[in-house]
Amino acid sequence: MTPVCQVTILLFTLCLRRIWCSNGASRPNIVLMLADDLGYGDIGCYGNTTLRTPNIDKLAQEGAKMTQHLTTASVCTPSRAALLTGRYGIRSGMVPIGIVRVNLFAASTCGLPPSEVTLAELAKQVGYNTAAIGKWHLGLHEERYGDFKTHPLNQGFDRFYGFPGTNMKDFGDEGDRVILDLRPTWYAQLITLWLCVVIPLACMYKAKFASLPFVIAVSLVWSIPFVTVYWTLENFKTLNSMLYRDREIVEQPIRLPGLTHRLVEESVEFMEESAKEEKPFLLYLAWSHTHTFLATAREFEGKSKHGRYGDAVEELDWGVGRILEALDRLNIKNNTLVYFTSDNGGHLEEKGLNGEVDGGCNGILLGGKTHGGVDGGIRVPGIVRWPGHIPKNTITDEPTSLMDFYNMVGMATGATPLKNVTLDGENILPLLNGMTNVSPHEFLFHYCGDEIHAVRCRPKTGFKTYKLVYKMPDYLPGTNQCIFVCGCHSARVLEKPLLFDVTSDPGERSPLPSSYPGYSDIIEAINKAVATHKSSIVPVESQFTARKLIWRPHWQDCCNFPKCSCSDPKYA
Ligand SMILES: *[C@@H]1O[C@H](CO)[C@@H](O)[C@H](O)[C@H]1NC(C)=O
Ligand SMILES: *[C@@H]1O[C@H](CO)[C@@H](O)[C@H](O)[C@H]1NC(C)=O
Ligand SMILES: *[C@@H]1O[C@H](CO)[C@@H](O)[C@H](O)[C@H]1NC(C)=O
Repeated sequence: MTPVCQVTILLFTLCLRRIWCSNGASRPNIVLMLADDLGYGDIGCYGNTTLRTPNIDKLAQEGAKMTQHLTTASVCTPSRAALLTGRYGIRSGMVPIGIVRVNLFAASTCGLPPSEVTLAELAKQVGYNTAAIGKWHLGLHEERYGDFKTHPLNQGFDRFYGFPGTNMKDFGDEGDRVILDLRPTWYAQLITLWLCVVIPLACMYKAKFASLPFVIAVSLVWSIPFVTVYWTLENFKTLNSMLYRDREIVEQPIRLPGLTHRLVEESVEFMEESAKEEKPFLLYLAWSHTHTFLATAREFEGKSKHGRYGDAVEELDWGVGRILEALDRLNIKNNTLVYFTSDNGGHLEEKGLNGEVDGGCNGILLGGKTHGGVDGGIRVPGIVRWPGHIPKNTITDEPTSLMDFYNMVGMATGATPLKNVTLDGENILPLLNGMTNVSPHEFLFHYCGDEIHAVRCRPKTGFKTYKLVYKMPDYLPGTNQCIFVCGCHSARVLEKPLLFDVTSDPGERSPLPSSYPGYSDIIEAINKAVATHKSSIVPVESQFTARKLIWRPHWQDCCNFPKCSCSDPKYA
């Protein structure tokens, strides 16, 4: 071989390697940011004029804002499961079947089944670094304590820094208890029930029907469940307020002020490390904001025009800004797909002890979090930025779903989803880049628990989106609210389902008359779609049975037992 030829071959291989490597590096990074209970009307670019959200607004300007973006449930556990799997929660058993609609205890066995392929697992298959930071709320242990089968590290994430359950007003120090919002007379009821046995026992003793040791023994045994329930609820914070780094508790209870800073710091570290390794990454950053208990770092306290809820929104926006800034600084903005959304709508009934508004606002939409099929609970902010793929200042009013992101992750990473798994998300990229102006979703099913309360229909022709409502929340008379939460099974069945044109009536205020052109055809098409959808559901074990939801004392994690208290030296 002549030297010239050798040099040519060398140059050629170098060149090939360059193309190869740069192709590898050009697989986009993915940043998925999920807010908690953030309402449709809480953000500037969605019409809020009094809260300052410049970073989120800028993200929307640099990409696409989806104005009819829908989550799959009006509460968090099921919608998070759907986001990570691209499927309706009912397919994985991740929908409530009774009154309890979210996973309440860290030490329970309710969780996203490990057989589900999360979007992190997709990305990992093709060599991505992956991290889950913030709220998880999809389980820890599945079959036995310590198996960590439903923990993020077993669901496709290389690292985890966050909390297993949800933030709760019990995590504050104001003595506010979520259970007392749900059932204000709960403790009185418990005491009454306890007395129902103890008083007759005392009478029996008085009447010399029973001996004193017998009466005391029975009373004590009868008291055990009551004391346990009371103790568990009063210690809710100790049992659930904890931060993990991977499988280890590093902070208990969570110091909520400053948590946003720590979530940002952990996320930025992860992105920096991946950028240094020149490996593409997927970051799932599930903010604690804007769920109660609302606490911010001192610099945000009292700064907004809307109390501590507004402060939380503005701190959230600050956090989003820091993440975007890191992408700029690492010079990877152009090669990063960013998605920002909320798990469900703002919680209208959420109030502090002094009646202060602690929940978000859903703009013109009807209802809010927990309200089942009405849009205030399920229509959420949804923003995607992907330079070079989605033009700036894109706005789409077509229906899209939070499940669509799974599809986008598959497409962006080049990973192929399992063939034997039914996915419900669609490819919305053509909609966001202007190739089409019709949503790929002809139908979207709005679940409340395991029931369909309403269905969206976007006929392939025309420009309108309709919504057929079968069940309405059991609102208190004359209001659009319930007592803290609205139930699913207790919702009002409409004798005649109501059809709305949500394109011109987004607030679902005026049902269409049956004389509306095509009225019965639309209804018939929707009913048929519901039947087809239902027949596609393979029954699976529910994750929301009482057995799965109940607190398991022997599964309780705790650092420095029995103190159950520790703080992270990293953030001392
Ligand atoms: C990113 O893309 C924009 C628009 O395509 C371009 O102007 C800018 O120079 C790019 N930045 C980098 C760092 O490549
Ligand atoms: C902005 O958000 C706050 C907090 O949720 C809310 O009280 C206010 O009504 C919203 N403003 C508008 C114009 O929607
Ligand atoms: C789908 O296929 C994978 C591997 O081919 C298998 O492990 C999994 O159990 C299958 N899932 C279902 C729901 O059949």
